[in-house]
Amino acid sequence: MNPYPRGTVSARTYFIRTFGCQMNEHDSERAAGVLETMGYRPAADAEAADLVLFNTCAIRENADNKLYGQLSHLKPLKLADPAKTIVVGGCLAQKDQGQLAERAPWVDVIYGTHNMGRLPDLLAQADSAALPVVEILEHTEMFPSALPARREVRHHAWVSISIGCDNTCTFCIVPLLRGPEKSRKLGDIVAEVAQLVADGVREVTLLGQNVNSYGRDLVLAGEAGGAGKRNRTLFAELLHALGDVDGLQRVRFTSPHPKDFTPDVFAALRDVPNVCEQLHLPLQSGSDRILRRMQRAYRSRRYLDLVAEARETVPGVAISTDIIVGFPGETEDDFVETLRVTEAAAFDSAFTFEYSPRPGTAAAGMDGHLDHAVVNERYQRLADLTRRLSLEANQRQLGTVQQLLVEGPSKTDAAKVSGRTRTNRLVHVPAVPGAEPAQMVHARLDEAAPHYLLGAAVDAACDPPVGTPAPVAAGSAR
Ligand code: 5AD
Ligand code: SF4
Repeated sequence: MNPYPRGTVSARTYFIRTFGCQMNEHDSERAAGVLETMGYRPAADAEAADLVLFNTCAIRENADNKLYGQLSHLKPLKLADPAKTIVVGGCLAQKDQGQLAERAPWVDVIYGTHNMGRLPDLLAQADSAALPVVEILEHTEMFPSALPARREVRHHAWVSISIGCDNTCTFCIVPLLRGPEKSRKLGDIVAEVAQLVADGVREVTLLGQNVNSYGRDLVLAGEAGGAGKRNRTLFAELLHALGDVDGLQRVRFTSPHPKDFTPDVFAALRDVPNVCEQLHLPLQSGSDRILRRMQRAYRSRRYLDLVAEARETVPGVAISTDIIVGFPGETEDDFVETLRVTEAAAFDSAFTFEYSPRPGTAAAGMDGHLDHAVVNERYQRLADLTRRLSLEANQRQLGTVQQLLVEGPSKTDAAKVSGRTRTNRLVHVPAVPGAEPAQMVHARLDEAAPHYLLGAAVDAACDPPVGTPAPVAAGSAR
C-alpha cells in the first residue's frame, strides 16, 4: 500500500517558493525531489498548484513580513479550494512554530529546519489529522543531501558540506535555528559530486554556515578517516579531493569565516584548477569596537591582511562580502571605519544589510539601538560606495577574454544569453550557435555596469579541458 495517499493522485502538482539564502535553495531542491518521488509534478505558479510549499527564512525581520504577506495571499485560494495543501518549512517555521499556526491557520503542514525528510509522513497525517500538522525537531536526523533532489538548472548544483554553526555572532539567529555544526563525511560529499557530474552538472557550490571549520567535529569524533594527514585542514583537503573529480569544471564555496581562514585554502584556490578564483568573505563591520560587540573574533587589520593575501596568492580573485549597517551602538566613527575598510578591500561586490533585531539573539538585548533614519542614511552611503567599487572592479575587466559558463537566455534581451565568469561575474553576450545553456564559451568583455558586463563570444562552444584557465589579457589581475 502506498503510505502517502496524496501522492497516489498522479495529477497533483506543486509549487515551491524559496525565501532567503542558498542553503534554502538547496533544501527546496530536496523538497521538490521528495514531492516528485511521491508523484507530484511542477506547477507554473501558486494559484495553479495543488500543493504550495514556502521554504522560509528568518535572518532579518523583512523576511518574516514577506512570508506573512505571501501567506495571506494564499488564504482566499485555500478557502476557494480546501483540497489545496499549504506547507511551510524552514527557518521561520522553526522560529515561530505555534505562532505561525495561529497567525495562518489555513496552513496544512509546518515543519522546521531538521526534518524535511519527514514531509511524506506529515502530508499523510494532514489527510486525516486536525490541521495544521506541526512537527519541529531540535536536532537533525538526516542530512537533507541524502534526499532525492530536483534541480532547476542542469549544470549547477548546491552541495551541503555541513549544517548548523558553532559561532555566536551576536546578531545572528542561525545557530538557534540550525543547531550546532555537523559536517558530512568527506567521502560522502565527493561521491555526491561525482554522481552530480555524471548527471551533467559542471559547477558545484559548497554550502556551509562556516565552511572553513568544516570537519572539525569529524576529527574530534575520530571520523575523518585518512583525510587531514597532509597537515591540511579538512576543508582544504576537500577542495583538493574535488579537484580530482573528472569532468567537474568549477567549484565555489560559501561562506568562510575570516577568523578561521587558513593559508591552505588560499593555496587550494591557487593550485586546484577547478576551484574558481572567487571568495565570499563576510566583513560585517569595519569597526573593531563593533566587531567585538558582534563577537566576531577578528579585527579589521586581520581582515585586510586576508584580503591582501588572497589577492597576492590568487591572481585575479574576486572578493565579495556581507556588511551590516546600524548594529546597536554603532557611532558615526564606527561607520566611517566600515567605509574605510570597504574602500581599502576594494570589494568586487557586496551584500549590504540594515541591522535587524532578531528575538533571542544577544544583540537584540543590547543597548544603543539606532533610529531607522540614521541606519538608512548610512546604508545609502555604503551602497553608493559598494556600487562604485563594483563598477570599478568590472571596468578593470574590460578588454579581457574570459571563460563563461552559459546559464540561459538573458532576462532582459531575448537576443542575448547570460553566463558567469569563473569569478562569478554576470556577462550578457549576443546569442550565437554553441552558446547554449551549460556550454562554455570565451567572451571578450566590452562594457561594464556595477552588476553585469556586456561582451561578445569570441569562440563559442569552446569547452576547454577541466581546469584550463581562461586566457586573460594583461591588466585584469590585481
Ligand atoms: N540583521 C542584519 N543582517 C544580518 N545578517 C545576519 N543576521 C542579521 C541581522 N540580524 C546578515 C549577515 C550575514 C548575512 C547572511 O546576513 O551579514 O553574513
Ligand atoms: Fe551566523 Fe556568525 Fe554562524 Fe554566520 S558564522 S551563521 S553570521 S553565527
